[in-house]
Amino acid sequence: MFDSENRTVVVVGAQWGDEGKGKLVDVMAERADWVVRYQGGANAGHTVHIGEKNFVLHQIPSGILHPGVRCAIGNGVVLDPDTLAIEIDELVEDGVDVEGRLYVSDRAHLVLPYHKLLDAESSASKEIGTTGRGIGPAYEDKAARRGVRVLDLRHPDRVRQLVERGVEHANARLSHSGSSKRVDVEETLDLLARLAPRLLGISEDVGLMVYRAQQQDAAILLEGAQGSLLDVDHGTYPFVTSSNTTSGGAAVGAGIAPMSIDAVLGVVKAYTTRVGNGPLPTEIEGALGEEIRRLGNEFGATTGRPRRCGWFDAVVVRYAARVNGLTGLAVTKMDVLDTLDELAICTGYDVDGELHTEFPGDIAALEKLVPRYEMMPGWKTPTRDARTLGALPAAARAYLDRIEELCETPITYVSVGTRRDQIIGLHEHV
Ligand code: IMP
Repeated sequence: MFDSENRTVVVVGAQWGDEGKGKLVDVMAERADWVVRYQGGANAGHTVHIGEKNFVLHQIPSGILHPGVRCAIGNGVVLDPDTLAIEIDELVEDGVDVEGRLYVSDRAHLVLPYHKLLDAESSASKEIGTTGRGIGPAYEDKAARRGVRVLDLRHPDRVRQLVERGVEHANARLSHSGSSKRVDVEETLDLLARLAPRLLGISEDVGLMVYRAQQQDAAILLEGAQGSLLDVDHGTYPFVTSSNTTSGGAAVGAGIAPMSIDAVLGVVKAYTTRVGNGPLPTEIEGALGEEIRRLGNEFGATTGRPRRCGWFDAVVVRYAARVNGLTGLAVTKMDVLDTLDELAICTGYDVDGELHTEFPGDIAALEKLVPRYEMMPGWKTPTRDARTLGALPAAARAYLDRIEELCETPITYVSVGTRRDQIIGLHEHV
């Protein structure tokens, strides 16, 4: 994965999230010096299976499970200090040593209880089907310049002022939306006073740390959360998250130069899923959709919600390849399709009788389009023990070849199961 030319590598989801980025980061972290999260927050749920144990990491980079790898939460993340503390404690309980190798950016904005309450009470959030983790309201406060950053915790007077302003705004919005709930300044300040020493103890200028690591030729992995189609600019707006999930966001959110990124790996499922509302052009309704959900255990890692399932959409992934500048694709969950007789790949969209092969920006078009499918035979053979491309059945290889061709991006990894070792690496680097 990392070689002499590819030292700073971004991993992004190239669909609607839940593509298996956690597993890929875990596999690649073996050769990384640093793993850095750059956007999103506790809305993410990166699952890593090691032996009998399942780890679900929401804010801490998945690299933490590799001793010796340093992990950082960048300025672009909205950080929930309360759940971060719980996540750290759980890792420590499981025997993972985080001491001296986990840092948070002093510039990262905090997700406070009133952000979570606003998310839970807002009708817009319900319509979108957000994770309820306060992500949207926290990014709103950041853009409105009333956010509380980690470094503010060094100045209690400033924190009080900011929290007073945030609470006033939140209560006005709650009252306007007809909610009877209100938030309290003192409760929020008590929480921050309790968590501040811990947070300040690991706060650093993460951009500078990563820059210095780059100067020393370290292998750096930038771990994206959610997926490209949930990007606030490039996704199915307004059914998106509130951050830039695509590779451009990696530079901004880690605090490094765009030119210092050498490669971008896009992670895709061998089919498509989406959790929450919004267009999913290749959605499979009925028994088959349910069967894939059961086979793939498609339930949200953060909220437990059932994920909607669909066929592989090459229009989506080719779009994600362009917007992210993907240099490689990792196709995950191939084994989930092992029992299907036939598979469909979407190669274009019919909108009012016209064929579209580029992903439209207007969700009105997405809602009325009819996917154009190419059918491919299933392989009807277990793939979970394959460790080389040659060990995969010919029909599975043909399916991957077609994905590679339609998405105009080389496949560099194929994942055939949840375990760390259930992976086929096709090239030395992305
Ligand atoms: P938010 O990020 O909680 O504001 O939710 C906005 C949209 O992004 C909703 O459709 C969520 O279901 C979706 N979303 C947020 N985080 C994830 C994730 O980690 N995986 C998949 N979908 C996500």
